Amino acid sequence: MQLHIPVALNRCVALLAPAIEKSNSPIVIDATLGMGGHTKALLAAFPSLRVIGFDRDKQAIAIASENLKEFGDRITIVHAVYDEISLTLENLGIQAVDGILFDLGVSSLQLDEADRGFAYSQDAPLDMRMDQSSGLSAHEILMSYSRSDLIHIIRMYGEEKFAPRIADNIIKAREAGALNTTKDLAEIVKESIPAPARRTGGNPAKRTFQALRIEVNQELEVLTRAMPQAISALAIGGRLVVMAYQSLEDKIVKKAFTEVTTSGTPLGLPVDLPNSAASYTFVIRGSESASDAEIIENPRATSMRLRAIERVAA
Ligand SMILES: C[S@@+](CC[C@H](N)C(=O)[O-])C[C@H]1O[C@@H](n2cnc3c(N)ncnc32)[C@H](O)[C@@H]1O
Repeated sequence: MQLHIPVALNRCVALLAPAIEKSNSPIVIDATLGMGGHTKALLAAFPSLRVIGFDRDKQAIAIASENLKEFGDRITIVHAVYDEISLTLENLGIQAVDGILFDLGVSSLQLDEADRGFAYSQDAPLDMRMDQSSGLSAHEILMSYSRSDLIHIIRMYGEEKFAPRIADNIIKAREAGALNTTKDLAEIVKESIPAPARRTGGNPAKRTFQALRIEVNQELEVLTRAMPQAISALAIGGRLVVMAYQSLEDKIVKKAFTEVTTSGTPLGLPVDLPNSAASYTFVIRGSESASDAEIIENPRATSMRLRAIERVAA
């Protein structure tokens, strides 16, 4: 089993440090707790810090609880989807937080556990739910969606140009009772992609598996709902740090950050009009990637895009 190495760990700690250090009783939200790698480093680095950790995966929560037990009540773990940030803070009686971290996507734990069905390289039931206690599994989606809905998700979320052929072959296989496992799906995708197109771009199943995972977990809708909640939960001086691993997610983050860092003053005026200056500013202009050295050590960091903003006014 591949060990989960937290991505851009030192960089995330450094980005959140000024926001944590300015507060007497700092609070950070780790919206994607996973196995608690980033949270552990933060709690160790800042002795007065309290972390609220979210994960929708009960297995991740069990592991994080074990990994973080030395920190006692400095860590509050919540089994929830991260679009419940506002509700959770209200329930906990917290007005604002000093930092928020999102490390999006699946963890290596989820990819390595064959029976979760995330990996095209291992044969398993087609599940792909991060929270196995709710929602439709990948198999239920593959068995019930119309041809046009299958094409839509494979094309949009997988950026797969052979989506119609894949959808046709999914329908043929499901009618024949031959679509049950990740291996069945990987074979269907392979057969749907013409041989010349298969020679480049890695495993042809990768894009369709990504598309299904996004649909199963409603990843883009949830992220779109979560961004404004995270942005408004920040105290003045608070920072929001997001790591995205695929372009559709990164676009949502970029759009949300651009909106709140843009002044309401019409272009061309030399100073901001009263009450129209942006309340947030970029900590990183554009985005950062992992260094070559980190990518060699941790291939998961290859596609990572890191963005960060700070709240500067109410
Ligand atoms: C990349 S891992 C995080 C790894 C973590 N930073 C660490 O160092 O251990 C992403 C985690 O976020 C969780 N997750 C993904 N989307 C979520 C959502 N919408 N709400 C809550 N948790 C989510 C996944 O279940 C997974 O455990």
